[in-house]
Amino acid sequence: MPESLHCPDEAATVAVAQALADRLVGGEVILLEGDLGAGKTFFVRALARALGLDESIPVTSPTFALVHEYPETRLPLLHADLYRLGDPDELLYLDIAERLGVTPWVAAIEWGLALSDALGSPDLVIRLHATGESEREVSFEPLSEHGRSLVGALDSLR
Ligand SMILES: Nc1ncnc2c1ncn2[C@@H]1O[C@H](COP(=O)(O)OP(=O)(O)O)[C@@H](O)[C@H]1O
Ligand SMILES: [Mg+2]
Repeated sequence: MPESLHCPDEAATVAVAQALADRLVGGEVILLEGDLGAGKTFFVRALARALGLDESIPVTSPTFALVHEYPETRLPLLHADLYRLGDPDELLYLDIAERLGVTPWVAAIEWGLALSDALGSPDLVIRLHATGESEREVSFEPLSEHGRSLVGALDSLR
């Protein structure tokens, strides 16, 4: 099981997102951590494309809306960014847990680790770390059995 992968360029990060997307079945909660500019939104965009989102539909940072939904992908994708969330109680207004209960979204949540108790049961934490202009270290922490199998499937990228 890879604990981390070195991505020398954007294409390598896209390949990781594609390999992950291939194994998703719906209903996963994936937390993305890493500094601003590390590539969390970039990763989710690649995930959306790998799940079949048409290039004509932009995947932008949900910095202000906090949650974007892409129901038109192979598996419906929910993309959240909780950076601006001050209080965990505000999560209630976003209805994320409720939305996850209604639709088996693949939920990709930036800055969700601190609030993970309120996010149902996360499967995987993906941490991105910039080691150069276009180099990223991507590490994986599975939080569920399914998360472990998702990470195991990335072995082929080593
Ligand atoms: N190997 C790489 N993987 C991911 N992003 C990269 C890589 N190299 C350069 N980048 C750039 O880094 C930036 C990451 O921005 P973004 O995804 O918005 O970060 P975050 O959501 O973590 O704040 C993008 O402009 C992307 O093009
Ligand atoms: Mg972002």
